[in-house]
Amino acid sequence: MNAPISANVNFDIRQAATNLNHWYVVAASAEVKTQPLGVTLWQRAIALYRDSQGQIHALEDACPHRYVKLSDGCVVGNYLECAYHGWQINTQGQCAHVPYLEPRQKLPNCQVKTYPVKEQDGFIWLFPGDSALASQVEPMGIPEWDHLNWIASYTLIDTRSHFSYLIENLMDMYHGHLHDNWQAWSGAVLESLEETGDRVDAHYQAQNYYRINQIWSVSQLFIPALRQLHPDPLDVSYVYPHWRSRLGDDFKIYCLFCPVSPRHTRAYLVHFTSLNAFHRLHKLPLWFRRFVKNRMFNSAKKLLEGLVEQDIRMIEQEQQAYLANPHQRPHELNRALVSVQRLIRYQAEKP
Ligand code: FES
Ligand SMILES: [Fe+2]
Repeated sequence: MNAPISANVNFDIRQAATNLNHWYVVAASAEVKTQPLGVTLWQRAIALYRDSQGQIHALEDACPHRYVKLSDGCVVGNYLECAYHGWQINTQGQCAHVPYLEPRQKLPNCQVKTYPVKEQDGFIWLFPGDSALASQVEPMGIPEWDHLNWIASYTLIDTRSHFSYLIENLMDMYHGHLHDNWQAWSGAVLESLEETGDRVDAHYQAQNYYRINQIWSVSQLFIPALRQLHPDPLDVSYVYPHWRSRLGDDFKIYCLFCPVSPRHTRAYLVHFTSLNAFHRLHKLPLWFRRFVKNRMFNSAKKLLEGLVEQDIRMIEQEQQAYLANPHQRPHELNRALVSVQRLIRYQAEKP
């Protein structure tokens, strides 16, 4: 079923708001250590921190005293202490301690906004919309993150462009042209497309360079002469507001979005390579399989960084071309992108 099409003919996809009633990824788990971390999600400054049990909390990044950034402070037990005068804010966003309170003074009655936040599958997921809806929506799962048969690598995408340019790049497999020898596949053809108000699934058929079924298989990524082409399905999905893809049986990639503002997008690109074909490995003790998984963690990071650099260059040029001439309309031939734009528009206008 197609998402309803808006009657608003003036709607501009490059200015579209992101729908806040979803779980967004604001950081990798490893980035939030003992110090608070300041992040921005759709123009909302947020301070993330871990309490004494390691539990993640998210507060508006503004001290109720004089509105400086709470993320410049430090964590004291379960409280977030402001750097300026040392006020301490508890996990519910209330002022719990002022170091210079006089004997007859009461703690100020202030409330810092808190956000629903979860740590799941290696990342910090935050729900910036109506908190009452948070329990009705599930974050997109990444089951491969902890699975022993999948090796993860990830990199950050940080681009001065609207999120629509990044998701269109990810859904348009015809841009393999840009990556040339870096890409694991070539010759993609869009075969079918499904669309609802929450997601777009595009099924391409592609020529895949390699399978991970021999120890040396990975070297095909780096040495083009070793590659043997074979057809494989290449499925890409916009599971609003994130993206996931699958190439054959051995590769999966996720892109976890954090739209910062209408002209700035951050996202984590997470790549998984399968060890499913190595049956002897699965009979080995769990501790050893965990060791192999951990040792190989981030082995594809350099490759991802190279791809991302090429993509960012293109989508930032698109953003600049739009800013120079917002009324110019590109000539789009890929039907998947029509569906992607319809979904962005539907989500932006959804009450
Ligand atoms: S501004 Fe934060 S304690 Fe004064
Ligand atoms: Fe790309």
